[in-house]
Amino acid sequence: MERQLATILAEAAAAAPGIQTRPDFDEFKARISGPNGALTAAMRGMAAMPKEKRPELGKLLNQTKGEVEKLLGATLHRVEQNETAARLGPPIDPTLPSPDDLAGSLHPLTQVREEVVGVFRKLGFTVAEGPEIESEWYCFDALNTPENHPARDMQDTLFMPAGTRCADAPRHGDEAYLLRSHTSTVQIRTMLRQEPPIRIVAPGRCFRRDTVDATHSANFHQIEGLWVDKQVTLRDLKSVLDFFVREVFGTSAETRLRPSFFPFTEPSFEMDLRSPNLGRLSNRWLEIMGCGLVDPKVFENVGYAPEQWTGLAFGVGLERIAMLLHGIDDIRHFYANDLRFLRQFAS
Ligand code: DAH
Repeated sequence: MERQLATILAEAAAAAPGIQTRPDFDEFKARISGPNGALTAAMRGMAAMPKEKRPELGKLLNQTKGEVEKLLGATLHRVEQNETAARLGPPIDPTLPSPDDLAGSLHPLTQVREEVVGVFRKLGFTVAEGPEIESEWYCFDALNTPENHPARDMQDTLFMPAGTRCADAPRHGDEAYLLRSHTSTVQIRTMLRQEPPIRIVAPGRCFRRDTVDATHSANFHQIEGLWVDKQVTLRDLKSVLDFFVREVFGTSAETRLRPSFFPFTEPSFEMDLRSPNLGRLSNRWLEIMGCGLVDPKVFENVGYAPEQWTGLAFGVGLERIAMLLHGIDDIRHFYANDLRFLRQFAS
């Protein structure tokens, strides 16, 4: 019996390296451990062995079975690898250049965002970020927007289901969470994080419960700006925004500030733009952004001394700028991923 088992193992080990295909493997396996296989025969032979030798032989049999299973497993693994390699075809050289010469390009909104950020960078602004899911406090209360303001209405804003928590905004108690309706939240986050002076722009995605049409999207992008320092004045606001408009729309562009209202600025303005370079929109006053001087109440809310600090802030829609710059007539083009549209902006 001992010899029989040793022979089975030796023969199997000798044959295994030659097994390359599935049918060979099946046959190999059947020859050893199938119903008519050598190992099965050895097991049956146990009954004829003298009783006192059986425990020892049983142990040896189990050992041999274990070895054979290992051998079968390794052989099957090799056979499967062969099959996979056959399916994949000849090996690929990943160092060869791609046969597809379409390198891809930046989305027009990304291009405009980078351009706008680049303009403000020249004026010493850095980029700040904040989360897209916000607590009501960051989105409204801290920005001096009262409880009964329409923006806080379910009709206007995308609130999260009750009980939703935002990881880094639990400090203001049991409040609702929402998809931020503007990037002004980043003003608050930045001021809480650092001391003035501050000069940041915060590009990012915003969300509103808007019905989608040529000029509305429930999901859009803004760039927020905030400059806090001693003695920031309206003159600074006008010159910063004029610089921005001329850099982006050309030196022949003109601007005007129209009085308006935002809870977080006092005074507040809408800025209009007029340019001879805008195709069918040339030489018409076009509203492009909200802006103003930071309301002292906002400074109070973030723990800055309102008598000591002054600031300017603005918020501009990225889609709006891109549409004006490129004469795009429908905001939905930005999100449709139609290559015929996107390729026009490929460099
Ligand atoms: N957050 C405003 C909006 O989404 C835009 C805005 C207006 C931002 C005036 C500002 C600002 O920083 O000063 O409509």
